[in-house]
Amino acid sequence: MQDTADRPRRPWGLWLVGARGSVATTAAVGHAALTRGLVPPTGLVTALAAFDCADLPGLDGLVLGGWDTADDPLAKRAEALQAGGVIPQGLPGAVTDALDAADERIRPGIAAEDAQRHPAEALDRLRADLVAFREDHDLERVVVVNLASTEPPMAPDPAHARADDLLTALAADRPVLSPGGLYAVAALLAGCPFVDFTPSSATALPAIAELAERAALPLAGRDGKTGETLVKTALAPMFADRALRVRSWSGMNLLGGGDGATLADPSSAASKLASKATPLEAILGYRPEGPVRIDNVPDLGDWKTAWDLITFEGFLGTRMQLQFTWQGCDSALAAPLVLDLARLTAAAHRAGRSGALDALGYFFKAPLGSDEHRLDRQFLTLIAWAAGLGEGSAPEPTGTV
Ligand SMILES: NC(=O)c1ccc[n+]([C@@H]2O[C@H](COP(=O)([O-])OP(=O)(O)OC[C@H]3O[C@@H](n4cnc5c(N)ncnc54)[C@H](O)[C@@H]3O)[C@@H](O)[C@H]2O)c1
Repeated sequence: MQDTADRPRRPWGLWLVGARGSVATTAAVGHAALTRGLVPPTGLVTALAAFDCADLPGLDGLVLGGWDTADDPLAKRAEALQAGGVIPQGLPGAVTDALDAADERIRPGIAAEDAQRHPAEALDRLRADLVAFREDHDLERVVVVNLASTEPPMAPDPAHARADDLLTALAADRPVLSPGGLYAVAALLAGCPFVDFTPSSATALPAIAELAERAALPLAGRDGKTGETLVKTALAPMFADRALRVRSWSGMNLLGGGDGATLADPSSAASKLASKATPLEAILGYRPEGPVRIDNVPDLGDWKTAWDLITFEGFLGTRMQLQFTWQGCDSALAAPLVLDLARLTAAAHRAGRSGALDALGYFFKAPLGSDEHRLDRQFLTLIAWAAGLGEGSAPEPTGTV
């Protein structure tokens, strides 16, 4: 997939946090397979004709790197995903050289203990990793996308609501951020736009938004919309626009894989449940009764089953029901969106856009900078916004805020 505009460009970078996880590995295999013409761009939103007039960077000029706290080789993770039916048989073998090259560019991540004990040192090292990646590969720009395991919610501390207070606390080695927050700050200090595909709360902190504004860098998130919530935000506007009253909406989510194991911990699940809860109430204007549950079933691997039961009321109070069962392969749904977000965020940076990219809300359960959750409206907004990205250009990254 080449640059939309026919002009020579320097390569650009995508730095994945959680680079050896299921979504990141599927994105790495998919990127190599797409650029070699081994697979069609099914599931890649930016390959739709609607984006033909947007000036997006090509996937062929993209160099992958990242951080992870795990160290099994990417090719081994890809084989496990192949065995689980997430990646087609033979595909990892056909792109092993690309996976091995990307593997060389994965640096150790920051564990929660490092973020607590030595935040200043961790931040310096993370920032240096990004600058080295950009310089070693002569990259025009680097987009950082967080795909690490979901973190427990973090209450915003009013003492660090301002960017300067947060930076002062970090410089004094005070443990004020989770690893996710440190990754976001490191990206912004290194002059890189930051995208949070996870429900972790760091990117929602006001100080991080202020840092992005000050550094004239785009920020996007949070929590990729790929399954039950994607269907909800397509269906809920139908009830609202037909003046039907939703009385209850209950959702049961069963999944395995690394994400399922992480979400088995109630504190991590709390982050995901919070981002899942918002869209329905925002679309309907009221909160119907009914629980949303997430349960870990290791045997399901990356295959998620969501079963939703909706009870609603029509003319004269007549009661009706709708049920749906979604059986999706989470990583296959998420990986192309990671490539889409990288292309769109890089184009936004080149066009000089900064702060929360509300037009990318289409991709997220809890969109930064936007209260719009209706999928069709979000899509129209995205297309119009992307078409306008040819205007303006950002200066070369300086790595200062
Ligand atoms: N798959 C989807 O459809 C989807 C949708 C929305 C959000 N997400 C989010 O995307 C993230 C990734 O999902 P996944 O299925 O790939 O999960 P996964 O468990 O397979 O991968 C997570 C990776 O993050 C790494 N990691 C953990 N802590 C880290 C740290 N402190 N620093 C660096 N790396 C760290 C792990 O070693 C692992 O390789 C999760 O937070 C998930 O909630 C996924």
